Amino acid sequence: MFLKNCWYVAAWGHEVAGDGLLSRKILGEQVLLYRQRNGEAAALIDRCSHRFAPLSKGRREGDYVRCMYHGLVFNADGLCVEEPGRDQPSDNTSIRSYPLVEKYKMLWIWMGDAQRADPSLIPDCHWQDDPAWRSIPAYIHYEADYRLIMDNQLDFSHLSFVHENTLGGSRKIAETVPTLEAIEGGIRLTRWYLNEPEIAPYLRGVVDLKGAIDRWHIYDWFTGGNVLNMDSGSAPAGTGAPQGHRAPQSLQFHATQCTTPEDEHCSHFFWTYAHNFNLNDPAFTKALAGRIEIGFVEDREMIEAQQKVVDVSGDDKMAFISVDLGLTQGRRLLNRAIAAEQAAN
Ligand code: FES
Ligand SMILES: [Fe+2]
Repeated sequence: MFLKNCWYVAAWGHEVAGDGLLSRKILGEQVLLYRQRNGEAAALIDRCSHRFAPLSKGRREGDYVRCMYHGLVFNADGLCVEEPGRDQPSDNTSIRSYPLVEKYKMLWIWMGDAQRADPSLIPDCHWQDDPAWRSIPAYIHYEADYRLIMDNQLDFSHLSFVHENTLGGSRKIAETVPTLEAIEGGIRLTRWYLNEPEIAPYLRGVVDLKGAIDRWHIYDWFTGGNVLNMDSGSAPAGTGAPQGHRAPQSLQFHATQCTTPEDEHCSHFFWTYAHNFNLNDPAFTKALAGRIEIGFVEDREMIEAQQKVVDVSGDDKMAFISVDLGLTQGRRLLNRAIAAEQAAN
């Protein structure tokens, strides 16, 4: 079950380049992404109206895509503009197109009712192209239901265990109860770990912050498009970070994570981990992204293994424990939004 009337990330902008035809399954539908001559990206169903050949086996011709089975040509709106051997294309040859917006280096697609595709609903992810921050666009494919990824994001107690030697730190992370607030379209979670003995393992050797720290994860999770935006960082302990003062030695990061269901079983995970210091040090940006990726691979391995067990567990009920407040609230919001959308149809 998916929420349809919202913007999902379909691809990074750089994945669709030149004459390229990118085929990607989104919410169970095979979508073709390409660029027109002016650089504007377009999304069509990856299925020719004639004999259902995939258009991704076709070729881009200027602003159009030609099916390379029997030669029908489609424009960016899905209109069939040429049928070999006829002046006008036959009836019913047009195909579906999807609203697509390029913003924050990402291509955002609207899989639901096109009339409702309002670009102002795209969550703010400006850290990805703001000159005050640096990050590297990254992608991970998951063989898991997007909701297990969402559960993981809404429960950081797993950092102490899944990421014991990477993104984690002391057991204090697992023992911390986050503050939960309702925000427009989602939830905000705030987690502080004061007076931790040292920086997290993933930062060791790449930054220079010694001694005890105050560390935080403050993040917004949006139901529409499963978008997570997180302010996180570490400051020398006792320098007033929880009160909003970020001492000059503080390390501040901004993570963006967007999870797009591929289908009922698999998911696309687009992420960045931006930093606002060492701005002119691409080697640092790369090293940081590499460390984070190791952590995200740990997540993927755990969640894909979990999915296999969930698949054979039928209707058996999972236990509810104290760290589940965030994910319970997230699931509730999502289920409510899906029910409301289905009731309106
Ligand atoms: S299948 Fe595309 S033109 Fe025939
Ligand atoms: Fe994780």
